[in-house]
Amino acid sequence: MEKEVERLKKRIKKNKNLPQHIAIIMDGNGRWAKKRGLPRISGHRAGVKTVKRIVRVAGELDIKFLTLFTFSTENWRRPKKEVSAIMELLYETTKKEIDELCRNNVKLITTGRIDELSPRRRQILQLAKDKTKDNTGLILNLALNYSGRIEILDAVKKMIEDVDAGQIDPEKIDQKLFSRYLYTKDLPDPDLLIRTSGELRLSNFLLWQTSYTELYITEVLWPDFSTFDFYQAILDYQKRDRRFGRIR
Ligand code: FPP
Repeated sequence: MEKEVERLKKRIKKNKNLPQHIAIIMDGNGRWAKKRGLPRISGHRAGVKTVKRIVRVAGELDIKFLTLFTFSTENWRRPKKEVSAIMELLYETTKKEIDELCRNNVKLITTGRIDELSPRRRQILQLAKDKTKDNTGLILNLALNYSGRIEILDAVKKMIEDVDAGQIDPEKIDQKLFSRYLYTKDLPDPDLLIRTSGELRLSNFLLWQTSYTELYITEVLWPDFSTFDFYQAILDYQKRDRRFGRIR
């Protein structure tokens, strides 16, 4: 298996079209735990191990941006116990991994309404962002308290303010300008979106940004998502013919 993994890595490196930005919907933690008769939080804990693995491997491949759908606005509707367990896991993991992120030259950023998290959780995220801000390797973007539709509405509201203040001319509003009002204004659109555990939907993730993103859905549950699975997704992407509406 080890050899097979190396072989895939070599093939990825040989192909020239490495995705610059990969986004992942990390789904299936709950099902992974259920299959083992464990509480759901054990699935999330196992999911963190996969996060660490994929961050390391993405960095090694020289992927520039990795966006992980960590917590959606809709996830607040889960039982209170599960929500606080996920939040606590996020806090603990961020705290524990700051040094490791620095060792791997990873820069941490977030996307979403962070101001609605508790002060303690905001502070640890801010500390991790500050400490990693000069790192020049992988940019790890955690989508947290994120909703694609709310992001678009936030952009519209901000744009109306700027129109009212005379800072932008409504006639000049185009896709490029609109993109600059999104949370992701500093990121290129994802080239590849991976969703684990087989569900065939976007779940309110990066709705504007994924209009021409290549989709890769695997049945593998997130805690089981291996380096091999990640390489397979990238190789599949490298075979695609991206036409962006044109013909070839
Ligand atoms: C989806 O599985 C997973 C989540 C909603 C939470 C993801 C969070 C983590 C992996 C932990 C924190 C992450 C970081 C970056 C430190 P699900 O619960 O929807 O699974 P199910 O569909 O099988 O129930």
